[in-house]
Amino acid sequence: KLGVFTYDPGFMSTASCNSGITYIDGDAGILLYRGYPIEQLAEHADFIEVCHLLYYGELPDAAQKESFDTIIRTHTMVHDQINNFFRGFRRDAHPMAVMVGVVGALSAFYQDSANVGDPRHREISAHRLIAKVPTIAAMSYKYNMGQPFAYPRNRLSYAANFLHMMFSTPCEEYEPNPVLVKALDRILILHADHEQNASTSTVRLAGSSGANPFACVAAGIASLWGPAHGGANEAVLKMLEEIEDVSNIPKFIARAKDKSNPFRLMGFGHRVYKNFDPRARLMRQTCHEVLNELGIYDDRLFKIALELERIALEDEYFIEKKLYPNVDFYSGIILRAMNIPTNMFTAIFAIARTIGWISQWDEMITDPEQKIGRPRQLYRGAAQRELVPLSKR
Ligand code: SDX
Repeated sequence: KLGVFTYDPGFMSTASCNSGITYIDGDAGILLYRGYPIEQLAEHADFIEVCHLLYYGELPDAAQKESFDTIIRTHTMVHDQINNFFRGFRRDAHPMAVMVGVVGALSAFYQDSANVGDPRHREISAHRLIAKVPTIAAMSYKYNMGQPFAYPRNRLSYAANFLHMMFSTPCEEYEPNPVLVKALDRILILHADHEQNASTSTVRLAGSSGANPFACVAAGIASLWGPAHGGANEAVLKMLEEIEDVSNIPKFIARAKDKSNPFRLMGFGHRVYKNFDPRARLMRQTCHEVLNELGIYDDRLFKIALELERIALEDEYFIEKKLYPNVDFYSGIILRAMNIPTNMFTAIFAIARTIGWISQWDEMITDPEQKIGRPRQLYRGAAQRELVPLSKR
């Protein structure tokens, strides 16, 4: 059934583009990457395989995975001049502010893959972005901490390498815990792509003018930063801390329902899902696994999150508005348990979403029907009128 779509005109009037990468059924709570259910990918694939699937359209066989993984591992270092960019930021700059600037600046270093009309150039740029965005994110954290940058290790897997670049110091090599590496790899898979969300639409619109992929991904990072989008995972942790105890939950539910109050229950609701976000279920399960592995059996915030979900899902307002936990509701609790600071949560979302952005960008560039994006408007301004010279105004 999924292969045959009969769009109603109403849908087409709101559809911003044709795409064959990710399919969401918001009412049924279905998410497919290139036809594969997210639940199966989270269980049986790793993030590198999912990157291959999203960009090339197919899961790799063993040889293809080995070759692709090696390419990514050997492109993780950034040009040494990039280190100088960080010196221009205040030490307390938000990692997303740094990433917008530094990822965009990659445009200045990779003119050798700047021809967006050349498939090979596009592929090289994709490899560079997949490989280097985690390095830049980890460098943003190290700069925040006042610690020296930790160079990537080619011998480590994608998720293990990121944790190494975050937590290794010249005094002590960080040995990534395999359960935490698997949990981070799964978080990356769950955030990899999501159809035409705000940041992906930003990347597509920027790319439709022919702008280079590094600048387009920097625009996507800027859009993702917003608390209504990728910034929600950081906002969920702040909200759970503010709730402080399960006894305060009814007060926050009431605030979320009060139309005169701008407060929103962070990590709840979605533009498309009017059922459980399948990623939220997988994230909750990963949360249990990580907390158990770390021997944290009574995590205060996790208990508040579980009780908040239980109460909200029984509340008639949330039922009527079809508000369910989304991908951001539990992810922050996992990252916090891994000692990752809240200001790095959206940066990790950006690492994961880079493959989605660049795959959607590539699909758009290769679409023969593609033209520059040019949304129109419903004009609500002044009718035409004559100008009165200043001397008479
Ligand atoms: C992501 O698009 C994507 O795919 C995004 C994403 C991805 O992978 O790229 O899935 C990632 O951005 C997930 C969403 C993360 N954001 C948050 O968790 C922030 C909290 N959520 C809300 O801000 C909100 O739910 C939005 C922004 C996500 C969606 O808002 P909408 O478009 O208003 O949602 P809606 O139309 O379904 O709302 C229906 C009603 C509205 O009330 P009425 O106008 O009908 O009276 O429910 C209300 C909303 O005001 N509502 C909420 C609510 N979310 C919606 N009320 C209280 N708390 C909430 N969280």
